[in-house]
Amino acid sequence: SHSFLGVMDMAKKPEMEIPEMYIRPQEPAIPSDEITLSAIPVFDLKTLAYENARDAELDKLYTACKDWGFFQVVNHGVSSQLLEKLKLEIEKFFDLPIEEKKKYHVRPGDVQGYGTVIRCKDQKLDWGDRFYMVINPVERRKPYLLPELPASLRDTLESYFRELRKLGMELLGLLGKALGMEMKEVEEFFDDGMQSVRMTYYPPCPKPEVVVGLTPHSDATGITILHQVNGVEGLEIKKSGVWIPVTFLPDAFVVNVGDIMEILSNGTYTSIVHRAAVNKEKERISIAMFFNPKFEAEIGPVKSLLNYENPPLFKSMLMEDYFKDFFSRNLDGKSHLEKMR
Ligand code: SIN
Ligand code: FE2
Repeated sequence: SHSFLGVMDMAKKPEMEIPEMYIRPQEPAIPSDEITLSAIPVFDLKTLAYENARDAELDKLYTACKDWGFFQVVNHGVSSQLLEKLKLEIEKFFDLPIEEKKKYHVRPGDVQGYGTVIRCKDQKLDWGDRFYMVINPVERRKPYLLPELPASLRDTLESYFRELRKLGMELLGLLGKALGMEMKEVEEFFDDGMQSVRMTYYPPCPKPEVVVGLTPHSDATGITILHQVNGVEGLEIKKSGVWIPVTFLPDAFVVNVGDIMEILSNGTYTSIVHRAAVNKEKERISIAMFFNPKFEAEIGPVKSLLNYENPPLFKSMLMEDYFKDFFSRNLDGKSHLEKMR
């Protein structure tokens, strides 16, 4: 495999022809008058954490993870000053000349760094430039990525990682509790778990309807927390066969259940296929934070959730092997959800 550096500079030419390798087959979208009916569930973290409100809210959370696999959180505790700083720093980074960003280029055989990994000649490309890296456990960090970023971006990202780690663990605890898991069980999987991040810059596209910013996929993760850095929307989820655009409340994060959480919950929670659409006028920037079990954890249906009526629907495997498979795309186009069933 090799990697490709960027759609960004190309997209600056307004009269451009879209290259063939970006053009996708069209799929049905939900009629716009029905969209408001299907806004994804919203949770106020302060309410969720408030003891008396907890049970009813937890039921609602359980249903959201089961029926939607997606929800938004407001009052998440991450300060708007930090989010504003993050926006400025990430914008500054993507604005750097390509020669600067090249330092972080995805290296042959790897998946981390700046750029798109190209695995085969006919691969369709996404209309977006991205930067992916593993950030936890700390000893798995690549020395030429995070430590080499411009200092102000690196420090801001470190603060963001810390804040999101707190939020991520709190949400994982609540998702586990809603399933009937003990916090101790959740911690056995996720304490000092594998955490990674992807920042994406989606340039405007003269024909947004023929390209995709991010190819349809379900996340291989425990959970993902998505932040729309510059407030521009584009996330779409597939529900009952149609693509539904997700509208974010101001300052909300979108949280989704990943494949691992579907497996741990023995299929109760659902990991939903989603994609990113692009925009004709506006650039869009997002940052997705991925929370996974630790590498030593055994991924499989949580034992305490299983009984005679609820037998395991998935096999088990070591997190280390799960991620080796995932990164090497050793799955013949299947997800672990299919492979482990
Ligand atoms: C995005 O909306 O930019 C990314 C969605 C994803 O991470 O799948
Ligand atoms: Fe995703």
